Amino acid sequence: MASEINAKESIAADFKSQTIFESMSLKGKVTVVTGAARGIGLALARGAAELGSDIAILDSLHEPSEDLSSWETLRVHIKYYRTDVTHLDQLTETFARIKNDLGGIDNCITAAGLVLDKPFHDHEWDECSKILNVNVMGTFFCAQLASKTMKEQKKKGSIVMIASNAANVAIPSRNMSMYTASKGAIQSLTRALAVELAEFGIRVNSVSPGFIATEMIMEACRRDSDLWNVFSSKPPMQRIGARSDLKGIVGYLLTDAASYTTGTDVVVDGGLACGHS
Ligand SMILES: NC(=O)c1ccc[n+]([C@@H]2O[C@H](COP(=O)([O-])OP(=O)(O)OC[C@H]3O[C@@H](n4cnc5c(N)ncnc54)[C@H](O)[C@@H]3O)[C@@H](O)[C@H]2O)c1
Repeated sequence: MASEINAKESIAADFKSQTIFESMSLKGKVTVVTGAARGIGLALARGAAELGSDIAILDSLHEPSEDLSSWETLRVHIKYYRTDVTHLDQLTETFARIKNDLGGIDNCITAAGLVLDKPFHDHEWDECSKILNVNVMGTFFCAQLASKTMKEQKKKGSIVMIASNAANVAIPSRNMSMYTASKGAIQSLTRALAVELAEFGIRVNSVSPGFIATEMIMEACRRDSDLWNVFSSKPPMQRIGARSDLKGIVGYLLTDAASYTTGTDVVVDGGLACGHS
């Protein structure tokens, strides 16, 4: 009887213990973001920093595409680690340095990725291996290293992996069979890790963007000028996505506001997966 009454009391208070704004803060957290020297990763790193998190940026490029000292007004620590996600020795060393430099790891966003757009019959073994190495193996081992630290810390953690709408819908003018396979692997990995890591308080979700204007997309448009038209007219919302369209949802998945959300894939594609022109 007493425990029933306690249960009633806690049900009454559960949604008032924190405001939405409090639950969406990342103050005091450390977030690792891979592939964040530019593009989507950079924007997601900025989003997590805006929510108050310290940030470790990992990328194979020599330096980030923008001067991170301009982010000082956010009053968080931001450190850049030049690291190739396909080299486990480099990755292991970098994750150890992050723990040492920033005091731990609470969240991880995996955005490092490569795309390959060519007919299925023209795909070659080496280029396919490269895609799988970066998009699947790199993501897999970053999630492993991040979650090992989260488990050691005995604190809650959140991992968000960037998949792609390519895993949900194929567009006739784009030929991305191996890329699609790699992103389908990320969606499946999300579900497997959500189950395996739940007992440690670690949530794992993926986000599948549609066409988002970044260097990756612009490089494709430079090779094929018709593509810009495809990207901006195929989605039912009749526009290409912006990196700002992803910041909120990824930030949310990192925070306590998403504390009961794990193993899900959030599609951010202007409606493309539901139908296209
Ligand atoms: N732009 C889109 O329309 C779109 C759509 C769906 C999914 N995505 C995914 O979003 C992620 C980011 O894409 P983007 O458009 O910002 O691309 P981008 O090319 O602008 O950025 C990718 C970043 O990953 C880094 N990277 C690549 N290989 C690496 C490696 N071995 N080690 C460390 N870093 C490495 C690159 O240096 C680059 O900074 C990718 O996983 C991509 O597949 C992009």
